[in-house]
Amino acid sequence: MKRKVLVLFIAVTVLMTALSGCGGQKENQNEPKLLLGFSQLGSESAWRIGNTKDIETQADLRGISLMFENANQKQENQIAAIRRFIAYKVDVIAFSPIVEEGWDNVLMEAKTAGIPVILVDRDIKTSKAGLTACLIGSDFYKEGVMAAEYLIRKADSLGLEQVNIVEITGTENSTPMRQRQAGFMDTLKNDNRMRVIASVNGDFLKSRGAECMKHLLETYGETIDVVFSHNDEMTLGALPEIERAGYVPGKDIIIISIDGGQEAIDVLKSGKINCVVECTPKLGRALMETAMKLKAGGEVEKEIHPEEQMFSDETDLTRIGPRGY
Ligand code: AHR
Repeated sequence: MKRKVLVLFIAVTVLMTALSGCGGQKENQNEPKLLLGFSQLGSESAWRIGNTKDIETQADLRGISLMFENANQKQENQIAAIRRFIAYKVDVIAFSPIVEEGWDNVLMEAKTAGIPVILVDRDIKTSKAGLTACLIGSDFYKEGVMAAEYLIRKADSLGLEQVNIVEITGTENSTPMRQRQAGFMDTLKNDNRMRVIASVNGDFLKSRGAECMKHLLETYGETIDVVFSHNDEMTLGALPEIERAGYVPGKDIIIISIDGGQEAIDVLKSGKINCVVECTPKLGRALMETAMKLKAGGEVEKEIHPEEQMFSDETDLTRIGPRGY
C-alpha cells in the first residue's frame, strides 16, 4: 500500500513539473507584470474614494504593481508625482487631471522617456498631438444632457410655465464641470420655460455645496424651482440648507444630482432628491487592461466610456442594488 502511494506521489510530481514547463519559461513570481504609476487628484468625494479603491483592487487582482500618489487637489502635486514616475521608470503612467490645462511640459517629458500615459476620468486640453495614449472616463456631456432631459419631462408633468434653475458646478476648468454644464445648457436652450438664474462654483465639495446653497437661498429665496448640482457630495451639503430655510427638497425645489453613490441613492429613495444621473467610478478594470496592452506594445482605443444610467422619481427605485461607493 505504502509503495503504491509513493509511486502515485512521484507520478503526480513529475506530471506537475512537466505541466509547469509547458509554454516555455516559468514566470518569475517576484517580478511584477507591470509597474503602473497612478496620480489620483484627491479625495474630495465618495466617488473619488470609490474610484481609488476600485483601481487598487483591480491592480491587485492582476498582480500589477501600483505606485499610487494622492495629489490632495493640487495640480502641482500631480505634476511632481508624474515626474517621480518618470524618474522611477515605471512601465505606464496614468493620472486623473484635476483641471484641463497646464500639462504639456510634463507630458513631453514622459513622451521623451518613452512612457505611455493614460488619462483616467478627466480629459486635458493641449495643442500638441500624441502626448497621451487614451482616455478612460465617463461621457460628462451626456450626463448633462440626461439631467436636462429629465428636467424637461418633470416640467411637462407638473405643467410648469417658467422654471428658475440654480446650478452648483464642480471644480472650475475641470472636464466634468465644463461638459456637464455644456450638455445641460445645450439641451435646455430651445425650451423657453427654462432660465438658469445663477451658477456658482462648489468645487465638488460637500462643505462648498452647503455654502453655495445658503448664498443662493439668501439671494434668490422662493424663486428657486430647481437645483442642478454637478455631484452628490455638493447635493448632500445643499439639502440641509434648503430644509433650514423652510423648503422641502424634492417637492418645493426639484433636486438633480450626478454620481449615484449609495448615500445619494438612499436620499433619492426618501424623496428629497428627484433625479441622480450615474457617473461610475469603476474605471479600474479598463485601466489595467489598457495598461497591459500598452506595455505589450499593442494598440488601444482612443476613448473608452462606461455605460451609465439615470435614477429618478419616474422609475422603480426598489430595484437599485447596492452601489459600492
Ligand atoms: O470627475 C468625476 C467627478 O469628480 C465626480 O462627479 C465627482 O464626484 C468627483 O469629485
